[in-house]
Amino acid sequence: MKKISDIWLNRFKTASSVAVLTGAGISAESGVPTFRGEDGLWKKFRPEELANFDAFLKNPELVWEWYNYRRKLIEEVKPNPGHFALAELEKRVHSFSLITQNVDDLHRKAGSQNIIELHGNILRNRCLSCGRVSGSADMDFSEGVPKCPQCGGRLRPDVVWFGEMLPEEAIQKAYAAAETCDIFMVLGTSAVVYPASALPEIAFRKGAFIVEINPEATPVTAYAHVSLRGKTGELLPEIVRKLTAGTEND
Ligand code: APR
Repeated sequence: MKKISDIWLNRFKTASSVAVLTGAGISAESGVPTFRGEDGLWKKFRPEELANFDAFLKNPELVWEWYNYRRKLIEEVKPNPGHFALAELEKRVHSFSLITQNVDDLHRKAGSQNIIELHGNILRNRCLSCGRVSGSADMDFSEGVPKCPQCGGRLRPDVVWFGEMLPEEAIQKAYAAAETCDIFMVLGTSAVVYPASALPEIAFRKGAFIVEINPEATPVTAYAHVSLRGKTGELLPEIVRKLTAGTEND
């Protein structure tokens, strides 16, 4: 196990605000495939056919088939030690914002509280007509595309597709967190999809201490103060253990 130096960890003891950006990599150890890795989803499927609004209008049944496939997979997986470590870290920091690109709901299941879902949540649906958001229980696929229980309009997964605007409130909160935090952690993301990918740089320019955890280098690596080559499911629990041990000795 890579040793994590205590020097920079001490910053967590004086930091009043920590912001975290997570990507698919933090859920990889739960068994959720990433998008751009060796066996990533975009190696097998074409995002332009499955994850954009035109594709949905052209072939809503295919898009629903793809999201139901991912939903079933996600309903079977559980948070891993990386998710739980972030929920624990949140309790130990005065102000903590967990900004996630993931739609798998695993941060919430792990107990994190202040979660900012930039790309929506695959377990929710949204009506194209009335905009009502509903859960994924008892959906009726007999006509191919499920209908809104409120108005009978067509339902879509409540996730952000390529080319779509992110939820306004979520992106505003994410920018505010990046601009005001003392420490910004970039965990398990290739950091190539805008606007999420702009957040670490915004934090860096505002003087935040940048910590990255990823088995591979990313565009963030060039300016991160600390970039750990490893898995979040292993390194995050070690960081929290060291911080907890530190407070117990204090
Ligand atoms: N721990 C930490 N990082 C990991 C792990 C792990 N165990 N396993 C893989 N990674 C890293 C990979 O090295 C890669 O850098 O996670 C990253 C996953 O990158 P992507 O697959 O590109 O996922 P992400 O960055 O979340 O993609 C952003 O793109 O397709 C859209 O909307 C989708 O939210 C997604 C966005």
